[in-house]
Amino acid sequence: MIIDWPALRSAATDVAGRAYAPYSRLRVGAAGLTADGRMVTGCNVENASFGLTLCAECGLVSALHATALHATTGAAPPGTAGTAAPVLVPVLVAVAVVAGDGAPLLPCGRCRQLLLEAGGAALLVDTAAGPVPLGDLLPAAFAAPDLSARRDA
Ligand code: THU
Repeated sequence: MIIDWPALRSAATDVAGRAYAPYSRLRVGAAGLTADGRMVTGCNVENASFGLTLCAECGLVSALHATALHATTGAAPPGTAGTAAPVLVPVLVAVAVVAGDGAPLLPCGRCRQLLLEAGGAALLVDTAAGPVPLGDLLPAAFAAPDLSARRDA
């Protein structure tokens, strides 16, 4: 699949302009390419109760699911032994996260974990040095299979 990185960065920069970041004054935009060729975006949204801040990647992952072309209700997360019938889950293949200046911003730790479930370790993440697999940014990650493998019977 051809990834148009300039288009992703441009969309991320555009959506950063919609950020609500009056407290940090750091605008962040995220744009992702889905496996079915669509683009989804998100921006950060802050709150007077600082801990409630939503990172741009949270908005992006919400948009990934909210705009999916198929129903995802009842889907089992990848790698888990779900009892529901198999249902397609939307997948990200590439993501660009930028600050308001349009330059790449590395996702925070929480968002790396969030992106992992949306795209897996092969998800390509834009960096100042070029795209890198998410697995390089979040090695030895906890993921859904650890639940089924380790929880009480
Ligand atoms: N922020 C993001 O949107 N994504 C990240 O990966 C890092 C941080 C936002 C949250 C907050 O609104 C601002 O940047 C400063 O931390």
